[in-house]
Amino acid sequence: MMNILVIGSGGREHALAWQCAKDDNVQRVYIAPGNAGTALESKCQNIILENSPNEDEHQAVIAFCQNNAIDIVIVGPEAPLVTGIIDACRKAGINAWGPTAYCAQLEGSKTFAKEFMAKHNIPTAAYQGFTDAVSAKAYVDGQGAPIVIKADGLAAGKGVIVAETIEQAHNAIDDMLADNKFGDAGSRVVIEQFLQGEEASFICMIDGENILPMATSQDHKRAFESDTGPNTGGMGAYSPAPVVTQDVHDKVMTKVIQPVVDAMKAAGHPYTGFLYAGLMIDEAGEPFVIEFNCRFGDPETQPILMRLQSSMVDLVAKGLAGNLPDEANWDERSALGIVIASKGYPETSSKGDVIAGLPELDAHNDQPVKVFHAGTTFSHSDDVDKIEAKVANGSDKEVLTNGGRVLCVTALADSIFDAQQAALVVAGAISFDGAHYRRDIGHHAIARGQS
Ligand code: AMP
Ligand code: GLY
Repeated sequence: MMNILVIGSGGREHALAWQCAKDDNVQRVYIAPGNAGTALESKCQNIILENSPNEDEHQAVIAFCQNNAIDIVIVGPEAPLVTGIIDACRKAGINAWGPTAYCAQLEGSKTFAKEFMAKHNIPTAAYQGFTDAVSAKAYVDGQGAPIVIKADGLAAGKGVIVAETIEQAHNAIDDMLADNKFGDAGSRVVIEQFLQGEEASFICMIDGENILPMATSQDHKRAFESDTGPNTGGMGAYSPAPVVTQDVHDKVMTKVIQPVVDAMKAAGHPYTGFLYAGLMIDEAGEPFVIEFNCRFGDPETQPILMRLQSSMVDLVAKGLAGNLPDEANWDERSALGIVIASKGYPETSSKGDVIAGLPELDAHNDQPVKVFHAGTTFSHSDDVDKIEAKVANGSDKEVLTNGGRVLCVTALADSIFDAQQAALVVAGAISFDGAHYRRDIGHHAIARGQS
């Protein structure tokens, strides 16, 4: 029997933990720090370790693994990957799934990613990097709008401004370079050509050599319906994404994913873990990389893992052993997840609002609608022991909001439309002060199906 440790606290980690717990060979899944949803999941237990992504956290993870017979660590978010948690675990002899700090630069530094793509002929938008506002603005004036301004470092999906006008572009440059709105992440900006087309998320597991593509998916980055409003970490996602035809799939594998695997291997840093290519697919079906992430997507994980019929633990174990298969088993049906966000998201987020209308946890774990938690916690206590006790005796299960993206209501059905409708019914029954969500998740796929 195996014990698994999942690092992270979002909807992605709830879905990963839930998938791992389904495996009969798994005894316990620990989640550090997890959320109210992971605390309630069978075989799962939240734990609190040092929570900042630094060396103390790495040491705390290693000590926990050694003291609790952890067989596999799965790292959800980018921050600990970028600071080298995989390198630290490997050094300590712990099986940890993810890329090394070197490989995680593909997400951690837009400049690294852009230079890497240029060097290895991976299709992407033309760009230039700047540290001073005057030359950045002069470049924008020369290029014209629309144009895209990006903070160089990690900014939780929010450090990107698609400027429709020169003035908006100048303001974004001032926010990042002059006013330091994104802190260190924005002390350098990348200015990019605006790409046209339809976006898709292409996520793979890689063991240094072999590539296992996950089912295709599409995210919805904008906060409001009809893809308006500011960029967010993602307001909903579905799988499969019809924009990724077999032809597009083949092109992504040969023009994007395989070159990353080959280049990292040649550099002496084989890529291991999840790799996420955020793509723009143009009218001719040519993929361009908008960004790389060194992890699974959130919320893409939730619908993708609803469809996964192979064991996630088994796939990760094979990945760690260097013998990933090139295919996994997927439910033929479609899955679609709708994120319910808290008041003010993405600019701010509200905490501590009571969530009403959550469905009872299903005993069999195979219901067609699953509510994955993200920013949730229990009332009046951050204390894990108390949460466990409360859950165990069934009392006081009041769940509170605890962040920007609160829940992801994910449904499995015969079509994207049916999955959207099923998720909307469950989302409509859930309420908390300031809750907002998009009712049009899946609109690209639904329009394709109708035309
Ligand atoms: P990123 O954080 O780089 O994924 O960017 C967030 C979102 O901004 C993307 O999902 C796109 O919707 C949009 N975006 C980023 N770069 C570009 C680009 N070069 N052209 C058009 N849209 C972009
Ligand atoms: N959903 C976008 C991301 O995970 O970065």
